Amino acid sequence: MFELQIKIPASMAGGYKVIIGTDILGSLWQTIERDYPKLNKFVVTDENLSSSGWLAKLTGEVNIPAFIIAPAGEISKNINTVISIIESMEKAYLGRDTLVVALGGGTVGDIAGFAASIFKRGVPVLHIPTTTIAQADSAIGGKTGVDSSLSKNAFGTFWHPVGVYIDVSALATLDERQFRAGLVESVKHTIIADGEYFNWFESNLNSILEQNPVVLEQLAMRNCKIKGRVVEADPYEKNQRRMLNYGHTIGHAVEAASGFKLLHGEAVAIGIIGACLIELELKLAKNDKLERIRGLLKKIGVPVTLPGNLDDKIVMELIKHDKKAVNKWPRFALTTEIGQVYSPGGQYAVEVNPELVGKILKRLR
Ligand code: GLY
Repeated sequence: MFELQIKIPASMAGGYKVIIGTDILGSLWQTIERDYPKLNKFVVTDENLSSSGWLAKLTGEVNIPAFIIAPAGEISKNINTVISIIESMEKAYLGRDTLVVALGGGTVGDIAGFAASIFKRGVPVLHIPTTTIAQADSAIGGKTGVDSSLSKNAFGTFWHPVGVYIDVSALATLDERQFRAGLVESVKHTIIADGEYFNWFESNLNSILEQNPVVLEQLAMRNCKIKGRVVEADPYEKNQRRMLNYGHTIGHAVEAASGFKLLHGEAVAIGIIGACLIELELKLAKNDKLERIRGLLKKIGVPVTLPGNLDDKIVMELIKHDKKAVNKWPRFALTTEIGQVYSPGGQYAVEVNPELVGKILKRLR
């Protein structure tokens, strides 16, 4: 069991507590009632967590108003779902003294966080993430949003949670491909921030894949510490937080070019290798770094090359549409050593010549 504190002075709560444990879901409701006795509760989850019994396990006998997102997944991540959530909160006579509890993966967290951020000008949200990607990344840091018909997270806010309560046993019901793909965000954390964590991850990979609870708790704790530290320093992504986009500039484009057939973590794995190749070309890093990272990603079982059916031109076009682009070209987060981010002049995202990126896409085959 671990407990951390992430400090966000400018947010509603000033910071938040992260609790990490095994088989704690059944007792979390008591913790929530103890921590937020004056607030009414409203749960947002999805049909998978409801049908697998996780919602009932969380709330127990207590009758809590809830919104169940159906169908589960990105297809429901739109403004209509947010309207339905807000209207069902109104129908339950809820006001500004409400705590939204988001139980689920990244999509549930993004939708519920966004709904909470705009309901009656904003009510607190507490995340109970249930996937590897949400426990490592999306539940921490306060990014919320839903997609428009044109782009991902077109509607969005920064809305820092009041708490993140993680039960690593929730991962047991996660599909194997999703489980493995979500680990790529942990690998990203090791590369940008902590070489010793990379060594630990390599040595403990088998226990992670076997879902040893002690190791999974340590994994969650290390991720939350790294992400928490970055978010504390730069909660609204003015500079330092951009390092968390490592592997994501090429990754997001590859994910979209695949028509979202590649999972986010799978596309980011390809993007991480792309970033390593850029670092090699710019003589920022050495080949043995690339080989160690590639070896680890292969052992996790995620792709490390661009699928043959993806056209480089489409990927380049999508890179230009990156939401962080300045003058139609995004900046890249890069590293020098494993655990060492590249920040010339204190800048955590740097310009890379588009011709070089085009060359790298060819080398990613
Ligand atoms: N996933 C990147 C961030 O939270 O900033």
